[in-house]
Amino acid sequence: MSVEVVVIPAAGRGTRMRPATRSVPKALITVIDRPTIQYAVEEAARAGVTEAVLVVNLDAAADIERHFQVEGPLPGLENMRVRIVVQEEPHGLGHAVLTAREAVGNRRFFCGLGDMIATPSSSFYEQLESGSAEGSAVALQEGQGDYYDRYGIAGIAERLDERLVQMNSAVEKPGQDHAPSNLWLVGRYLFGPDVFDHLASIEPGHGGEIQLTDAIDALARSGQCRGVVIPDDLLDVGNPLDLLKASTALGLQSDEFGDDYREFLAGLR
Ligand code: G1P
Repeated sequence: MSVEVVVIPAAGRGTRMRPATRSVPKALITVIDRPTIQYAVEEAARAGVTEAVLVVNLDAAADIERHFQVEGPLPGLENMRVRIVVQEEPHGLGHAVLTAREAVGNRRFFCGLGDMIATPSSSFYEQLESGSAEGSAVALQEGQGDYYDRYGIAGIAERLDERLVQMNSAVEKPGQDHAPSNLWLVGRYLFGPDVFDHLASIEPGHGGEIQLTDAIDALARSGQCRGVVIPDDLLDVGNPLDLLKASTALGLQSDEFGDDYREFLAGLR
């Protein structure tokens, strides 16, 4: 059966986006005309998902819920049920996903980090689903520059084809000397409900937090996780410079005002 639910962890406090996030939740920071979390929900809707579980912190819960519910459903999200789950304490990304366990139940689910938004033409969830062989799958990109300390890195057992790999480990922010490959986890995942058992039993890892990557490591070690290498089509919106770049990239792609914006940029000195 196709995947009907997405978990979107969005409980971070957005310290890299101060002062904007002093009173506005990070997930409601706007790119062009909508908050970043709406892009994440829309991406899942394009893949046929009908239920979004947003994991948020207590301070942000009411504002985020209001965004999705005030004046009725948002255009394009009429078939999406949006549920809010509160992560009471900041114990890490893995802990945030575990918080969604009851809402997800015994279903396979997508997971997408709101800090990276996908361009409207991308189809990462569909690619994960077709590459997963009914198990779990994570989206990967070939690294460039200094990324070994910033991301989770995949260990590769076997290349299955040009874009598909069988994984045998995953390590959170290992540093260059300990990185098992040059493929990093970009924040798009497809999990079976068994990932919750791993999340519930792993010890705190990198930074003293319950790491999603450590649960992926457990899946990979038992041969249950594939990696799908995706094109470089995700836009980071978690810090000011990248947010500006993402706004520009999406602005240039806009059917409505892309041409005007291109002209404006060309005229800047
Ligand atoms: C998280 C994950 C990491 C992943 C990254 C992608 O890290 O823990 O494995 O590579 O997202 O953006 P964070 O950005 O929360 O430090």
